[in-house]
Amino acid sequence: MSVTVIDHPLIKHKTTIMRMAETSCKEFRELADEITMIMCYEAFKDVELKEVEIETPVAKTKAQVMAGLKLAVVPILRAGLGMMSGVLKIIPSATVGHIGMSRDEESLEPVEYYCKLPSDIENRLVVLVDPMLATGGSAIDAIDRMKERGAKRIKFLCLFAAPEGIEAIEKAHPDVEVYIANVDKCLNEKGYIVPGVGDAGDRIFGTL
Ligand code: PRP
Ligand code: URA
Repeated sequence: MSVTVIDHPLIKHKTTIMRMAETSCKEFRELADEITMIMCYEAFKDVELKEVEIETPVAKTKAQVMAGLKLAVVPILRAGLGMMSGVLKIIPSATVGHIGMSRDEESLEPVEYYCKLPSDIENRLVVLVDPMLATGGSAIDAIDRMKERGAKRIKFLCLFAAPEGIEAIEKAHPDVEVYIANVDKCLNEKGYIVPGVGDAGDRIFGTL
């Protein structure tokens, strides 16, 4: 399995502001969007290119464009919605699927409440987004569901990950390419990432 921790000063700076308890939900949302866009540079490094002939105002030249990339971006509801627009700004032609998962507060087990995926998911590179990888349960179940529907190539982008979640997803889905902006220390007794950002969905949607 490939796990890439994106080590970049812009990401460090922006995630530090996200962590601060006093950061407003408007700013939190904007930062999640910006960091996701930066992560896309790394995540799409291996996209295939093809050569085309173009004409600039000065000369004819050969240049490169993406070779028919078919992408599906899939946010895990709710908090994943905070990363969706970042991916769509970079690849606007992507289709969008949604998976609704809610973590049971006692057992920490994910409960699926919604799933709508592109019908041709087997022909698409799937980019699953969720800012938080805590126990890993939600991401693992979302990937299970996408594979059941035929998804073959999956990249997972998250902003904050606990070592426990990374280990769990590596074990359950060794074929998935994982991109992480921050690896945090641990989980607390309530399953929250420490130091983390608290409840990412509440911080994005202002439902604190
Ligand atoms: C959060 C987060 C992940 C999940 C991570 O969602 O957005 O989906 O928890 O935890 P895990 O790795 O232990 O499964 P939550 O269930 O709080 O729902 P929300 O996004 O609607 O707030
Ligand atoms: N979900 C969140 O929103 N935050 C955490 O720290 C863990 C799971």
